[in-house]
Amino acid sequence: MIKYHWEPLQGVKNLTQEEANRIQAQNFNHATQDLYEAILVGNFPEWELSVQIMSDQEHPELDFDPLDDTKIWPKEQFPWLTVGKMTLNRNPSNFFAEVEQAAFGPGVLVDGLDFSDDKMLVGRTFSYSDTQRYRIGANYLQLPINAPKNHVATNQRDGHMTYHIDVSKEANAHINYEPSSLNGLIEAPQKEIDYEPTYVAAKIVRQTIDRTNNYAQAGELYRSFEDWERSELISNFVSALAPIAKFTQDKMIEHFTKCDADYGRRVAEGLRQKAIL
Ligand code: HEM
Repeated sequence: MIKYHWEPLQGVKNLTQEEANRIQAQNFNHATQDLYEAILVGNFPEWELSVQIMSDQEHPELDFDPLDDTKIWPKEQFPWLTVGKMTLNRNPSNFFAEVEQAAFGPGVLVDGLDFSDDKMLVGRTFSYSDTQRYRIGANYLQLPINAPKNHVATNQRDGHMTYHIDVSKEANAHINYEPSSLNGLIEAPQKEIDYEPTYVAAKIVRQTIDRTNNYAQAGELYRSFEDWERSELISNFVSALAPIAKFTQDKMIEHFTKCDADYGRRVAEGLRQKAIL
């Protein structure tokens, strides 16, 4: 199993609520504008790609389920291994053709990768391509921004705005099924997978995972913040929770307290102050 991380080399900077109120009210495209202008003057943004690797097992030694993607994998146990870097070194010349029509999805893999049993990932392998067929069109993969750079040969045919069919020079272009004695395409031999498939001897059921541990990492994150970040977080929650029913506020305070006692106490205190004002 792999967890991927894109780490922005320009750092992570967030707006406080007060800054967002001011900036966003004037210009709701400020982030796109910032990106566009930085690239324009050659200040190219870069992201380093790292992977964390864990063997394909249940890992009972961990207090969380490694396939639960609301959880991080602690860096100390699973070091970040840098494998590459992405640089945005030019702006699109046509926003519609190169951005609006770009179609990304986790169902499209290059050789050497495979899917883990992450339920969220498995669901997404279908949903993105389906949406793109609806959003862009049946032949969205033929558009230059989405087309493979290497030649592909498939039996896929027709549909709205077909631009070409994927054939090979040697094969009979009129045949779109396989096997065929009329010189259609022949499926390339599948590469053998070079890892041990997971062995399962258990009931496959629909139920929540048993190692939910929903509070520990949230508490660690809270404690890792600087003082001003914690104050900003508390103030955001207090503003968001102030107008809602008392029993919902109490429920939220219970959750915060389970993450960290100080966290719960400060939100409760903030709400009390606001109620007095
Ligand atoms: C780990 C959880 C997920 C992450 C990190 C994620 C991330 C993203 C991102 C970054 C986009 C592009 C948004 C944009 O264009 O501005 C996107 C779009 C989309 N997501 Fe997700 N997503 C997640 C879960 C899901 C799930 C569970 C589904 C459905 C089962 C889903 C279905 C879609 C679809 C259909 C699109 C639009 C695709 C397109 O037309 O290009 N996503 N997602």
